[in-house]
Amino acid sequence: MPAWLPSAARITSDAGLVAIRGREFLMSTAIDRGHAEALLRTYNKEDYHIRHALTVEKVMRWFAGELGYAREKDFWGAVGLLHDIDFEMFPEEHCRKAPEILREAGFGEDLIHAVCSHGYELTVDVKPEHMMEKVLYAVDELTGLIGAVALMRPSKSVMDLEVKSVKKKYKIPNFAAGCSRPVIEKGAAMLGWDLDELIGKTILAMRS
Ligand SMILES: [Fe+2]
Ligand SMILES: [Fe+2]
Repeated sequence: MPAWLPSAARITSDAGLVAIRGREFLMSTAIDRGHAEALLRTYNKEDYHIRHALTVEKVMRWFAGELGYAREKDFWGAVGLLHDIDFEMFPEEHCRKAPEILREAGFGEDLIHAVCSHGYELTVDVKPEHMMEKVLYAVDELTGLIGAVALMRPSKSVMDLEVKSVKKKYKIPNFAAGCSRPVIEKGAAMLGWDLDELIGKTILAMRS
C-alpha cells in the first residue's frame, strides 16, 4: 500500500454477507471514492485510460439506478472506476495483477471478483455472476465504440446520438476495431438483452 494512503482512508467491507448464486460475498458499502480515484491515478497515467475509467464509472452508476440497485451505486461505480487498474502498467497480466493491487489498497473480495470478471475467458477464468458483473462485461468495450461514433459527429457528443448510428458503425469491422463485438454480444446475452437494448441503455448511461 502506498505510504501516502492513510489507513483510515481504506475501503472497508464489513457490512455483512450477501448470497450470490450460492456463494457468499462481503458487500463493500463504505466506498471511499477519493481513495479509489487516487489508486486509479497511481496506476494509470495515460489520459485515455483515465477517461475510460471515468466513463465506465458513470455508466455503472447509471445502470445501478436503472436496474434496481440504487443503494449500491457507489459500489458499482467503484468497480467501473477500477476495472482496468492493472492494464496500463501490467498489460500482460490484465485482471491477474489487479487482485494484488486492490487487496493491498484495502478493497474487499467482492470488488476484486467483480473487477476480474470482466476478463472472463480473455485473461482469467472468473465468471461474471452478479448483475453488476454482467453489466460491466457488456459495457466495457461498448462504451469505447459508442464514444468513437460520437466523436465522428458534428456535436462530438452522445447527447444527440441514436442507436441506429451506432449499429451502422458496429457492423463495420474496421471501425473501432479494438472494441470486441463478440465480447459485447456475449455480454448482451448474459444480460438477456438484445443488442439494440444494450446499446440504447448504454447511450443513456453515457449521457448521464
Ligand atoms: Fe479490461
Ligand atoms: Fe475497460
